Amino acid sequence: MTTSSSNSPTGLEIRLASRPSGLPAPDDFQLVEVPVPDPAPGQVLVRNLYMSLDPSMVLLTAEDPGLPAPRYELGEVLYGDAVGEVVASAAPSLTEGDLVVHRLGWREYALAGAESFRKVDRTAYPNPSLHFGFGLVAYVGLLHVAQLRPGDTVFVSSAAGAIGGLAGQIARLKGAARVIGSAGSAEKVRHLTEKLGFDAAFDYHDGPVLDRLREAAPGGIDVYFDNVGGEQLRAAIEAMNVHGRIAVCGALTRQSTGRPDAGPGDLVTLVGKRLTLRGFTVLDHMDRAAEFGEQFRGWLREGSIVYDETVVDGLREAPRALLDLVRGAYTGKTVVRLGS
Ligand SMILES: NC(=O)c1ccc[n+]([C@@H]2O[C@H](COP(=O)([O-])OP(=O)(O)OC[C@H]3O[C@@H](n4cnc5c(N)ncnc54)[C@H](OP(=O)(O)O)[C@@H]3O)[C@@H](O)[C@H]2O)c1
Repeated sequence: MTTSSSNSPTGLEIRLASRPSGLPAPDDFQLVEVPVPDPAPGQVLVRNLYMSLDPSMVLLTAEDPGLPAPRYELGEVLYGDAVGEVVASAAPSLTEGDLVVHRLGWREYALAGAESFRKVDRTAYPNPSLHFGFGLVAYVGLLHVAQLRPGDTVFVSSAAGAIGGLAGQIARLKGAARVIGSAGSAEKVRHLTEKLGFDAAFDYHDGPVLDRLREAAPGGIDVYFDNVGGEQLRAAIEAMNVHGRIAVCGALTRQSTGRPDAGPGDLVTLVGKRLTLRGFTVLDHMDRAAEFGEQFRGWLREGSIVYDETVVDGLREAPRALLDLVRGAYTGKTVVRLGS
């Protein structure tokens, strides 16, 4: 807790100061110090420990994000996934010391009705940020949207990122014959094959993506886990086998530039190969959370999955870190540490 000159406790929060026309700049965000309120009956005060950074937050600063989530409003505090500890409760369902996940990130202290917070088991994961839902996105995208089958050849883009890194590993654990990843630097490519167990990987800046894909998957691709769109999606469609399935998870080509994406290209190829191209949101698959959590904890316990994380310290660094995230500065899941 920060203390103001009047000696009352204060906390920091980040508001949207101006609406960008493309990619936001640091000046579009404003850091504000506010008093920490006491909970009214039915409310809970939570000190946030970690908040998640997600590339979709870039889109939420836009006039029309095109996402199944409300945009960030001018002058208001941003929102996003956070995990924190109850420090004061005026609600019977939560008590001081409980660990909770919720959507009131981008602030050091969150105050809301108890129904806004979900209590989680402190002992479930070695790291509180593992309570964020990105692993579930990878799991449902692969298994329930792309309908992964044992023996499939799988291609994952943004494979050194939070969701892509887990998608590639889950594909291997679920019986994929070959897993290929793309990333934006030679260092990330090495990380994929040497640390995360991908069978092949390439830097998407190294010449036409279709050439790299044909080298990495001479027998073609059965499943594409698409975080990116753009040239990688068009190349994957060309390299897909008949009856291939594409799960469209994200649009990083657009998220990293603020400009619209040209899309999947000539749809005749989709028809000829009878491909399935399906966008999805994890919000439609929350009923799989318990099933995923059980398997994920098992994989972590037995050491069959690698969890990568980049931790940025301090809320005041969060806007810069969000922009760095979409520029490819980090590996694995990126979180901001707000308290210890
Ligand atoms: N469908 C859902 O329910 C759902 C839920 C959550 C998130 N998402 C979306 O899933 C996607 C992945 O999220 P994440 O949290 O795992 O992000 P992430 O992959 O950890 O982070 C962003 C990465 O984007 C890559 N990138 C930036 N510009 C690129 C470009 N032009 N072409 C290719 N890659 C580029 C960078 O990696 P390189 O260095 O490799 O370029 C960067 O590290 C995002 O689009 C996110 O919004 C979807």
